[in-house]
This record gives sequence, C-alpha cells and structure tokens, in this order.
Amino acid sequence: MITIIGSGKVGGAAALFTALRKVTDEILLLDVVQGLPQGEAMDLNHMLAERGIDVNIRGSNDYSEMKGSEIVVVVAGSGRKPGMTRMDLLKINASIVKGVVENIRKFAKDSMIIPVTNPLDPIAYLTYKVSGFEKNRVFGMGNMLDLSRFVEFIHESTRYSRHSIRAMVIGEHGENMLPMPRYSTVSGIPLISILSEEKIEGIVQDTRQVAAKVIELKGATVHAPGNAISTIIEAVVRDTKQVIPVATYLDGEYDHSNVSIGVPAVIGKNGVEKVVELDLNSNEKEWFKKGIDSVKSAISNLQL
Ligand code: LAC
Repeated sequence: MITIIGSGKVGGAAALFTALRKVTDEILLLDVVQGLPQGEAMDLNHMLAERGIDVNIRGSNDYSEMKGSEIVVVVAGSGRKPGMTRMDLLKINASIVKGVVENIRKFAKDSMIIPVTNPLDPIAYLTYKVSGFEKNRVFGMGNMLDLSRFVEFIHESTRYSRHSIRAMVIGEHGENMLPMPRYSTVSGIPLISILSEEKIEGIVQDTRQVAAKVIELKGATVHAPGNAISTIIEAVVRDTKQVIPVATYLDGEYDHSNVSIGVPAVIGKNGVEKVVELDLNSNEKEWFKKGIDSVKSAISNLQL
C-alpha cells in the first residue's frame, strides 16, 4: 500500500498519477481536514472505475490506517503564496512535518518516506532525523520536478521531442537549484552543442523561476509535482534502478555531510541504492555550495 499524507491538490494529483501507473493495488489518502481525503478518494475511484483500473483509493483522517505501507509520501503543510520563497515556509511546515513523521515512525516503521513539503531539502533532513530510518529510506521529491521543467524549456527552445530529451538538475530545490546543461542531451547529443551559451543560461534561469510564475498565474503547482512523485514511486515499486535526482542525506558525497540536498541517485526497491557523484566544474561547485549553505542555514533553525 502507498500512503499519501496531505490530500490537497498535490496529494490528489500524486494519487491520480500513481493510480494510472498501476504500480499498487491500494492508495491511502490521509489528511487532518475531515472529509477531504474521503471525498478525494471517492472522486478518484469514480475516474478509475470508468477506466477499468482496479486500484482502490481510500481516504481517512486516522494515521493508524497507514499500517503496512511500503511507501509514505509527505505532502502535508502549507504551499507558497505568490511572492513567497519555498524557504519562507520553513517554520510552519517543519512543525507540521515533525508531527507527521512521528506518526509514520509509530505506524509505518518499515516504510520508505518521500518528503515533498517545502522547503524540501531541510524538510527531507528533518524527516531523516525524526524518523530514525536508514538514509536510503528517505528521499525527497524536488529536483525531479525541476528536471521536468528544464526538459520543457529545452523542448520549447529546440522543438525536439520531449521524448528525446534527457536532463539533470541537482542541488537545492529552491533559489539555488542547479540545472546541469553539461549533463543534458537530446538523443545523446550534448545540449551544449545544440544551443548557444546565452540560450542555455536563459533556460537555466527560466527553470529556477517558473514555479513562482505558475503560482502567480494559477495559485499552485499541481500536475507536475504530482507526476514527479509518481515517477519516483514507480522506480521504487518496479525496482527500475533509474537515476533520479532526489533530496537525500549526504555522508561525504560531493564533499558534504550532515545535510540533505538533491543529488542523482539510483532508485530501486531499496530506495536510494547509490548516490551518483557527477564531476562538477568550478561554476557548478559554486552553485551547489550555495544550495548547501542555504539548506544548512535552514537546518540550524530547526530544533532537532
Ligand atoms: C514547485 C513546488 C512543489 O516547485 O516546490 O512547484
């Protein structure tokens, strides 16, 4: 069973995209708001019924129902409002997620946890520390979402099929995120040999700023994060060994420790099976370090 804690727009989208991938028989939606998870589950089941998909979605306000969950997604907390940064949510969301993770530790102690709540990287660190789980079992969804946007901008710039594009984004899921043109290709052709340096810098900036634009226009990002969550879930359930950037605890990788931040990792049935260390040039190291410093500063404000 897969549990999604937080049944708002992103939690509902994560349930929808996960159900459509048919990677589980059962999804549990949890929320503190009475009726919300139950209503979301009913609406999704009606959709699945018409499509003949036998994935049963339940809604509940009772944490104890997550017993036996293989994967628990944590989307609980507030989303940013126009003009806010993800880091502005630290205080309110750290407190919410701490309580949620204590319940996961109590009712789903053998699960893997996918934090999504922002600010993602400090929240992933908090989740790892409060859960007491091994580090391979806690991996946050952030850069996978950034990567999807980077792919879209590459598609829009080149007009090549999205299917042919392989891209990479690492670092803080925030102002210091690090799209990686040097590790991005179109059908194996290096991006840096397709687009000019100026064009590439433009889509790197666009990738950093586009979430705020979507929030300004429609109030929240929904489908892209929901889908990105389901991609990571599928990699775990099908043991695909895909290399996916996730926010995981570093213990010396990339020359950093005692911090959680987005890095490429082999994702399979054991969660983070290996951190893939890319060779970073000086500019990439500088941006990555900015993210590390930002996340470590946020972590220092958490009473852990
Ligand atoms: C975004 C939020 C989920 O990037 O951080 O859309």
